[in-house]
Amino acid sequence: MLNSLVARPVNILNNFIARPNDYPFRRFLWKTWYNLFASNFGNIKIAFINYGYTDLQPDAKQLELSSSEEKERYCIQLYHHVANAIPLFGLDVLEVGCGRGGGSSYITRYLHPRTMTGIDISESNISFCQKYHSVPKLTFRVGDAESLTFNDCSFDTVVNVESSHCYGSTERFFTEVYRVLRPNGHFLFADFRPKDAIDKTTKLLETSGFKILKSERITANILKAMDLENERKLAIINQDIPKHLHIVANWFAGCQGTPVYEAFQNRNLEYLCYVLQK
Ligand SMILES: C[S@@+](CC[C@H](N)C(=O)[O-])C[C@H]1O[C@@H](n2cnc3c(N)ncnc32)[C@H](O)[C@@H]1O
Repeated sequence: MLNSLVARPVNILNNFIARPNDYPFRRFLWKTWYNLFASNFGNIKIAFINYGYTDLQPDAKQLELSSSEEKERYCIQLYHHVANAIPLFGLDVLEVGCGRGGGSSYITRYLHPRTMTGIDISESNISFCQKYHSVPKLTFRVGDAESLTFNDCSFDTVVNVESSHCYGSTERFFTEVYRVLRPNGHFLFADFRPKDAIDKTTKLLETSGFKILKSERITANILKAMDLENERKLAIINQDIPKHLHIVANWFAGCQGTPVYEAFQNRNLEYLCYVLQK
């Protein structure tokens, strides 16, 4: 009995959150979840929904941020790690699964693309983005990763951070990214996968036509950020979220002791980061 209770969260994690197989219902569930999240907790002024990233070297140079950005430092550092892999200056960049827009805004203001477009399947997230990020050259619109409404060869770079685990078909997503990229364009991709799905993900990227320029496992960096962020997340949950939703919120935020946190700790889940080229 105890075993099955303990095993259940892990099964939910493996079967639902990040299963490698195609699963169209997953797309619907995540869209519903993010719309609920954004419409119920729209007053929480968080601009990111990711687990964060930090350097493992204690003497590593700190990213310089404004004081208002400091509170979301680790989430910004994840974007910086992914998007700063190639120069984006003067390019047309698309972010798929932009969430609450903090990443697209960061890229526009700090990495200076020519244009920056953020899309997300959640209408509520896009409303939040349009309300809170008014930045020249940056636009947001509702869109589905598996069916991008852009012409072939529209972008120089596509960025995708911690979103693809929500999609019904990763294969359709990769095919769409390849289609909208210009020749030699880059795909900067980061997300978590169960350890037994890593090879399949890498293979799928290759069969979709991408050259893998760089592939890393950044799980240790993510875990360290989760530790450093734990107090802040718990404070937001305690302050802004109704008590009966605290367990769900802790899970979703990956607080210490939750199944996601433990899966990263024992490396049943790995956080992957790729630099790819068309
Ligand atoms: C964990 S959040 C990450 C958001 C953002 N990238 C960040 O790091 O702050 C995942 C995001 O993916 C979006 N998403 C889920 N399925 C999607 C789909 N099929 N197409 C586009 N966006 C999707 C969700 O609405 C959500 O905003």
